[in-house]
Amino acid sequence: MSAEMIDGKKIAQEMREQLKDRIAQLQDLTPGLAVILTGDNQASKTYVSMKQKACEALGIYSKLIELPDTVTQSELLKVIHELNDDAKIHGILVQLPLPDHISETSVIEAIHPSKDVDGFHPINVGRLQTGGEAFYPCTPNGIMKMLEYQNVDPAGKHAVIVGRSNIVGKPMGQLLLKRGATVTYCHSKTADLAIHTKQADILVSAVGVKDLITADHIKKGAVVIDVGMNRNDEGKLCGDVDYEECSMKASAITPVPGGVGPMTITMLLFNTVESAERFSR
Ligand code: GUN
Repeated sequence: MSAEMIDGKKIAQEMREQLKDRIAQLQDLTPGLAVILTGDNQASKTYVSMKQKACEALGIYSKLIELPDTVTQSELLKVIHELNDDAKIHGILVQLPLPDHISETSVIEAIHPSKDVDGFHPINVGRLQTGGEAFYPCTPNGIMKMLEYQNVDPAGKHAVIVGRSNIVGKPMGQLLLKRGATVTYCHSKTADLAIHTKQADILVSAVGVKDLITADHIKKGAVVIDVGMNRNDEGKLCGDVDYEECSMKASAITPVPGGVGPMTITMLLFNTVESAERFSR
């Protein structure tokens, strides 16, 4: 049996079309996203440019603020405070990682929770657990949309998450729990990874280790979601999952590239539009 490929590009495109309609309904209000980029990290520059292009394609106003890696914490916080007060801006994203001398916690906490379209502010993190109006982190929320699109209902399923980052692993487990899954977290200290991953009806790997998940790690018929973004020996983009092997055993699987990646940016657009709608109410 060969698994169905979950086409992130196609789902993302459909969602972006729906967002265009929502933007049109906002009439004279244009959703605005501010992206702050510090330093010279090439990967960050690429991600930020992709985010900006995606905004422009949808008619979202995007404002890029580039700061040198010598920027002081107080200068950066001042920029964030100004954006918090800027009525044209509905979403603020500070691209991570930040230069070492800047406290990531202080920066994230400076963003007003109502403009925190990354969903990283403790208010939004808390509300993911306890309820209330919140933004959810883009990658795990995008994965929830992919599961919905595939008609995979997490209720009663065993979901195993590999990775415990604040950006993906932890919120992924929370979102699946909210939808009724039984959740297991695995990470670098987990003694026998395969014992856990083989139990998974839904397996999400988000660690950044090429070919970590092989056919021996999965149960027949599992839904496998690959969040990894790695390079193989030839420099080609690949995930955490051995796609060739696992697609012979899984029922559905995401490719890399073209799986989770396009959904992450789409959910940033989704949160920005949602934020503009909340401001317009
Ligand atoms: N760096 C890597 N992923 C992300 C993300 O989702 N948001 C931000 N702000 N920075 C990142």
